[in-house]
Amino acid sequence: MSARQYTEEEIKLFDEIRNGRKFDAGEELPPLYKKALKNLLWMQHDSEYSGALGYAPWIEKAPTMQEKVIVAQIVKDEMRHASVIYKLLEGLGEDVMSHIEKTELGWKSPEDKAQIGFQRLKDDYRVNIFYYGINFWEDFILFNFLMDRAAGHQLEDTLDSSYLPWKKGIEGIYKEEIMHLAHGDKWIKILAASEKKDFLQERLNIWWPRVMNVFGSTSGRSNDLYVNLGLKKRNNQMVRDTFVKEVQDMCEQAGLVLPEYKEEEQPTRQ
Ligand SMILES: [Fe+2]
Ligand SMILES: [Fe+2]
Repeated sequence: MSARQYTEEEIKLFDEIRNGRKFDAGEELPPLYKKALKNLLWMQHDSEYSGALGYAPWIEKAPTMQEKVIVAQIVKDEMRHASVIYKLLEGLGEDVMSHIEKTELGWKSPEDKAQIGFQRLKDDYRVNIFYYGINFWEDFILFNFLMDRAAGHQLEDTLDSSYLPWKKGIEGIYKEEIMHLAHGDKWIKILAASEKKDFLQERLNIWWPRVMNVFGSTSGRSNDLYVNLGLKKRNNQMVRDTFVKEVQDMCEQAGLVLPEYKEEEQPTRQ
């Protein structure tokens, strides 16, 4: 967000929030707060919505009947998450349906091994990992294992959000994300113990920088603003470190190797 200095009033707002001030539906929100809140909600809405569409083809392609049911459940969960956020945005005066109609939230990059770093499309607010195609069952599983886990870590902060309607909505969403990542964990073990292990490692190498980029740049200033407004609790680096530690341990147990990630080598926003 803007690099301007904060006004006295805004600094007072940060103090009040630090001392426990919350906002509820229908309450008038300070402009800086409302803008930051809407940014985060749009990002979550478009991510959940395009996540549901990206997972949907895997109902048909899942390897067993039991897995088709699980994938269908996950698709339903993601679309429900989008609908929860949709309602919050509507409550803030946003026209979400027009946005859905004019944005191609189902669009995926046709290039299987693309690495776009921190770049993103205009007027499409999803986290940019959702621009990549889920082209193999191993990708679907890695998405559960990595992205649903990353989402879980990010949403954990929202469980204590200063915006009460969001805090309330996240409780159910968070539980469902935990189920999605558990599905990933189960399958990572199965695939890593099978003849698919080398291919899984190959796909992990492709998806790892993509998921690490989801945490944004560790030097970004907008994150500090979100923390000041009680919309996040930890900065990008803290959330990312916790996530990496968890994935690292699980990969070691499964005999997989996490590739090296260099934030400074990622293509940046243009
Ligand atoms: Fe979700
Ligand atoms: Fe999920």
